[in-house]
Amino acid sequence: MSIWLPFKKTKQKESSNEIIENIPSHIAIIMDGNGRWAGKKGLPRIAGHKEGMSVVRNTVRMAVKYNVDVLTLYAFSTENWKRPKPEVDFIMKLPKEFSHVYLPEMKRNNVQIDTIGDFDSLPTHTKKAIQHAKDETKHNDGLKLNFALNYGGRYEIIRAIKQIATACEAKEMDIEEITESSLEQYLYTNHLRDPDLLIRTSGEKRLSNFLLWQSAYTEFWFTEALWPDFNETLFEEALKEYEKRKRRYGGV
Ligand code: FPP
Repeated sequence: MSIWLPFKKTKQKESSNEIIENIPSHIAIIMDGNGRWAGKKGLPRIAGHKEGMSVVRNTVRMAVKYNVDVLTLYAFSTENWKRPKPEVDFIMKLPKEFSHVYLPEMKRNNVQIDTIGDFDSLPTHTKKAIQHAKDETKHNDGLKLNFALNYGGRYEIIRAIKQIATACEAKEMDIEEITESSLEQYLYTNHLRDPDLLIRTSGEKRLSNFLLWQSAYTEFWFTEALWPDFNETLFEEALKEYEKRKRRYGGV
């Protein structure tokens, strides 16, 4: 919900006296570069995704440590179905593996797992693994770990428009009632504030259909590092850069 005002949080680094102020409440990450990371090592692309999954675990640890409220990770886009089937199949098995290996830690860390995207069109085994993780963590009230899975920003907006048009046709909604905040109620993210900081790894500088509506006033931070090489030093670099940004939301 973009009407939420940004609030300031601070966190002292455990290793030093340095304090990072104004920790972003919602961090969104485009985890890019798994394939290139694997290629550089002479490994198949899927090895990069597997390594990327363990970096997800590390990043969750960092987000918990810095009291981030929401971490949204772009794990699979609506366009990623165009990839070779064995790669898609591998990625679709990752939620099960993630649950198997990391769910106990997520539970201990009070992490609540959720997803955004077209959940119903995922393979049954993927849905089952995700639903299990959601059910097991639904009472947790710490970090919200939000996987964007089968997610596309344009699809999300079209879906909202269709629902609004249906409501208008049924006379449950008046055209005059279509506003930014009423439209937001139809987005997958209707229970979340907009991302404060968006990180993209691997040197690419584009949104790739991620959180198009929600990132209108988001601060962007890019790194050349490939996702499997993303680490705490880079995470802190992003936080320190965000700390310096002056967010004006179109004002002065
Ligand atoms: C983009 O890198 C990465 C993906 C499309 C998949 C990301 C998935 C993970 C990091 C694991 C997610 C974990 C769970 C539990 C779902 P790329 O393959 O496009 O890299 P490239 O640009 O170097 O080819």
